[in-house]
Amino acid sequence: MSEAVAIIGGTGLCDWDGAEVLAARVVDTPYGETSAPLRDMRYGGSRFYFLPRHGDGHRLPPHKINYRANIWALQQVGVKAVFAVNAVGGITARCGTGALVVPDQIIDYSWGREHTFFDGNDGRLDHVDFGSPYSDDLRAQLLNAAAKQAMVLVEDGCYACTQGPRLETAAEVQKLLRDGADVVGMTGMPEAALARELGLDYASLCLVVNPAAGLSDEPITMADIQKVIDSGMQSVKNLLAATVSG
Ligand code: HPA
Repeated sequence: MSEAVAIIGGTGLCDWDGAEVLAARVVDTPYGETSAPLRDMRYGGSRFYFLPRHGDGHRLPPHKINYRANIWALQQVGVKAVFAVNAVGGITARCGTGALVVPDQIIDYSWGREHTFFDGNDGRLDHVDFGSPYSDDLRAQLLNAAAKQAMVLVEDGCYACTQGPRLETAAEVQKLLRDGADVVGMTGMPEAALARELGLDYASLCLVVNPAAGLSDEPITMADIQKVIDSGMQSVKNLLAATVSG
């Protein structure tokens, strides 16, 4: 593969130590600024564009991310496939803290975000099929790369996207569970839908960084989340690099 692949990093994945940044491209978009310049990177044997979703220094909360600019810019530079990394809370037992999950479904509870390229403003209107929101091909690439490294993944699951930036109430998490969600995060949407609207293949690799609200006796703290990120994010990078070089 090549720089036609992009990785969008989430909480805990802003930098790639040991990577060579070949270029940082600022792309003008009709939607405003991307979260950061697109970094054309080489990491091990892999070459890809990297975009830190929350911006350099993690300055953008989930509802302020310019998802449209990000996805538009990636398409502009020729990206065809996007691997998104999402830190999430675990809801079902199989998605315990530290697990890596490759979801196959989404429920969107976010609101008030610019969520479509087809808002009628430029005369384009379409209703894209989103029944299977993630690319099965990219999901299979992740699962195959993991199998080669004997890395255990949760091979499917439903991602619930909440608005944030606050975490959920315990009752909200019980509702998400009844709705069929396995993990909960704040940034999966509208990113996945926008990628579909522009015809980009898109898959997510989720790192479970805490039990969702009310599922443990302990409060959720950023310090505890950071510990899980510190121990889990290297596996995420290794898996992505292996997948991209695949
Ligand atoms: N809820 C929503 N988003 C998250 C969580 C959570 O528990 N953990 C990490 N991102």
